[in-house]
Parts: sequence; structure tokens; C-alpha cells
Amino acid sequence: MKFAFSEISLPKRGSLAVTVYESNELSPTAKAVDKASSGLIQKALKTSRFKGKKGDYLEILAPEGLGVSRVILIGIGKLSELTQTDVEAAGGSLAKKLNSAGAQGVTVILDEMKLKGLKVTDLAASMAFGAKLGTYRFRKYKTDDEENSAPTLTRMTVSCKGSAAARKAFADMEAVAEGVFLTRDLVSEPANELYPESFAARCKELTSLGIKVEILNEAKMAKLGMGSLLGVGQGSERESSLVVMHWNGLPGKRAAKEPLAFVGKGVCFDTGGISLKPGPGMEEMKWDMGGAGTVTGLMKALAGRKAKVNAVGVIGLVENMPDGNAQRPGDIVKSMSGQTIEILNTDAEGRLVLADALWYTQDRFKPKFMIDLATLTGAIIISLGHENAGLFSNDDGLCDALFAAGEAVGEGVWRLPMSKDYAKQIKSPIADMQNIGTGGRGAGSIVAAEFLQKFVNDVPWAHLDIAGMAWSKADKPTVPKGGTGYGVRLLDRFVRDNYENS
Ligand code: BES
Ligand code: MN
Ligand code: ZN
Repeated sequence: MKFAFSEISLPKRGSLAVTVYESNELSPTAKAVDKASSGLIQKALKTSRFKGKKGDYLEILAPEGLGVSRVILIGIGKLSELTQTDVEAAGGSLAKKLNSAGAQGVTVILDEMKLKGLKVTDLAASMAFGAKLGTYRFRKYKTDDEENSAPTLTRMTVSCKGSAAARKAFADMEAVAEGVFLTRDLVSEPANELYPESFAARCKELTSLGIKVEILNEAKMAKLGMGSLLGVGQGSERESSLVVMHWNGLPGKRAAKEPLAFVGKGVCFDTGGISLKPGPGMEEMKWDMGGAGTVTGLMKALAGRKAKVNAVGVIGLVENMPDGNAQRPGDIVKSMSGQTIEILNTDAEGRLVLADALWYTQDRFKPKFMIDLATLTGAIIISLGHENAGLFSNDDGLCDALFAAGEAVGEGVWRLPMSKDYAKQIKSPIADMQNIGTGGRGAGSIVAAEFLQKFVNDVPWAHLDIAGMAWSKADKPTVPKGGTGYGVRLLDRFVRDNYENS
């Protein structure tokens, strides 16, 4: 879909969307349309449940005297309560409905509104952003898409006063959306297509945006002593790899110094290994690389909008398979940090991958902070469902900033506790630690975070357990079901608000 921004004027064809505020107070353009069509809107409102509330939607077909093929009323609700994410949702819903109705082009008009701390030009950009995010489809493997289900909407024009500013704001948002889409694509790919080597090749494509990409193969990782990560991949025919992506958006001397660091779990398929998972639902484990997918999409977003920061993305790519060479329960491996790990369950593999990826990242880059993302535990879905990612951290400031960014973009995080008492659970009688806790089903996500912290020194660190967030079974206005791209917007906003204004 193509997006355009223009000053306010009534279109002569296509679909027209106008806004209605709370209690059916018509916006200036809605009033003008009503007048030009001898009271059509007021008549339609009388025969409908539409009340101008947030999310309300009313379509009037073939209006007489107007030229356009349909007029859509979008409920905005109370202006004092309006947020950017509300407008994104409106844009997503609008585009989706127009696609199923068979419309080809739409003009959305946003009049001047009395808003607290929001600019109408930003809202116009958000309307387009929401439409873009909401109409994403992963269609690559559909060779016989029936005519009727193919999207029809090819153009959205958003009109407001000062539209040049809206166009400018949207350019950055579009770059972020491209990052989100890369993550969704990666997460949606099946594991026969997306495995460590092909994933790394997708990362390599980002060089065209100015990202430097390094790929460490198994031999290189063995030299570095990454026994923990390599142990996970040793039962797979596919070679493991570690990909390092550099975005240097700060010029000159400051280049590459103290970067922001993002680390991702990239288990391209998780069978559980010898501690094999049950069959039903195992196909979901194709998206066990969601953390790595988000880091990769984030790097694309940052580079795409030329963010003024230096950032590195490090992703550990493996496939967790059971075979004659696979790691066994009881095996002991040595991590790059030098610490030894007793493997009591080969299905607790994500933490083993991150152990070496985190250590490598802090050791090599001395980053300002490290944030890792991982579909790490089923337990986090028990705690938080699909509404928030679990947040674990050694730094209160980092937590506050992540929480605020999450609120702003509608990608929530919720902090869970960490303490020595939980860490006790991973003491091993025979090695420096073991990879699962002694507490059975209790506090599984926290124990996993305690394990990760053993591979973090003094650097501010946060861990996001996104097992409940990377994939969605339900459609939402800006997030179609399937791979969600969760975390790209959260971290892009976090970077933008905290590191780009200095
Ligand atoms: N990838 C899974 C976690 C997961 C489960 C992600 C469901 C998304 C949906 C992870 O590798 C895993 O298997 N974790 C185990 C840990 C346990 C063995 C301590 C789990 O959650 O059961
Ligand atoms: Mn597992
Ligand atoms: Zn896993």
C-alpha cells in the first residue's frame, strides 16, 4: 500500500473517512460532508448504534451528491483521552475493513483538534502507520490465493493541516514498520527454510542499509570457548552460528564506542532435544527464534531511520534437535565465561545459547547496557499471558525507561523480581551451575533469568521473556495473527527517547 499526505480538501472519488467525536459531535469535515449531501450523516447516525466512541465505525455506501463511493465515520471518543496508539488502531481497523469491502483508495481527513501534548500531524502519520502495520500479510507460501481474499486497498491519503510535517513523521515510522515486518517474516518462516545459515544470510542483506554484519561459524565459536551455545546445536545437521550486526549512527570519534547492545535467542527450531517435547503444538517452536528476529528487525529499523546511536545486535542461532550426537541430560559443558554448566534438561536450551552470546557481547563491546530478548519460558505465559513481556533486570533506571517506552507504543513489559534465594535453585552438586531449577514448576521464568545473570557482570542489563508475545493467535488492529514483531517498536522508542537527544 502507498501512503500520501495532503492538505484538507474533499476528494471526488474513492472512499472518504471522516472523524466523529464523543456523543456524535461531528468534526468540521464531517459537518461539511453532511451539508453537501443534504444531511446524510445525521440520517445515518439516527439509524445506527454509532456513538462516536473510540473504535466505533460506520460505513455509508454510495452517498448521493458526493462523488465518492463511500463515506466512513471513525469514532474518536473524548479528545482529552486520545492517544497515538488509538489512532494507529483506527488506521489498522479502517484499512482492514476497506480491504474486505474491496475498496482501492481512501482519503482520511483529520481536522484540527484540541489535543493535549499531541500534534494532529503526528496523528495523521500514526493513522498511516497503523494501516501499514495492520495490513501486513505473510503470503510467501500461498500459491493459489483466491481472488476474493487478496487485499484491494492500494492507496491511503491522510489529509490534515501542515501535512508536510505528517509526511516527515511518517518516513521514520515507515522505517520502523519495515523493521517490524522483517521480524514478522522471520518468525513466520518454517524451520526447513529458516535455519542458522539462512537466517544469517537474511541478516547479511542488511548491509545494503549500512549495517556491518559479521558471521561467526562453529570453528570460530569453538575457538572462543562457547561450549554452552555449541552444545545446544550439536545434535543438528545444521551448523550453528553467531551473527553480529553493527549500526554506527554516530559520526567520527564516537563511532563504535560504548554501543547499545541487543542480544537475541535464535533457536530456529526447538524440539527439546533428548528431553523431547510432546508432539502436539511442537510446530510452534519454529518461532523459538523470536528474540533473534526482534533484534534483527530492530537493527533494520534503526538503520532505516538513520538513528543517531551506535548499536550492536548479537544473535545466537542454533537448532535444538535430538540425534546420535545430541547433548544428553547430565552432560557438563564449559561456557565462554569459564563457568561450567550441568545440563539437566536439554529443553532449557535458550539460556545456554544466551549465556555465551551475553558473555561475548559484554566482553567484546563493553556496551552502555545489554538488553536480551528470548522466547525463554512457557512459565512466563502462565504469569503474564499474552499482554506483557516479562522484564528482569539489575538496573531500576533501565526498567523504568523500558516500561515507559512500552506504554507509549502499546507493547507492554512487566517486571518480575530476582534475588539470591531464586538463584540458589540452580546450584549444581557437580558443576558451577545447572540449567534448570530445583523448584519444579515454581518461578520458572525467574530461575531462567537468574541463570542468565550469571553471565552478566556490572553492565546494566535487562532480559525480556517474550514467549507470550512473539506469536499471536488473534487478530488485533495493528497486529495480524501470526508473528507479531513484538519488541521492535518498544526498543526503537526506548532508543529514541533515551539515547538520541544528546
Ligand atoms: N522455547 C521454550 C519456551 C517456550 C514455550 C516458548 C512455549 C514459547 C512457547 C524453551 O526452550 C523451553 O522449552 N523452556 C522450558 C524450560 C524448562 C525445561 C525448564 C519450558 O518452558 O518448559
Ligand atoms: Mn526448549
Ligand atoms: Zn526454546
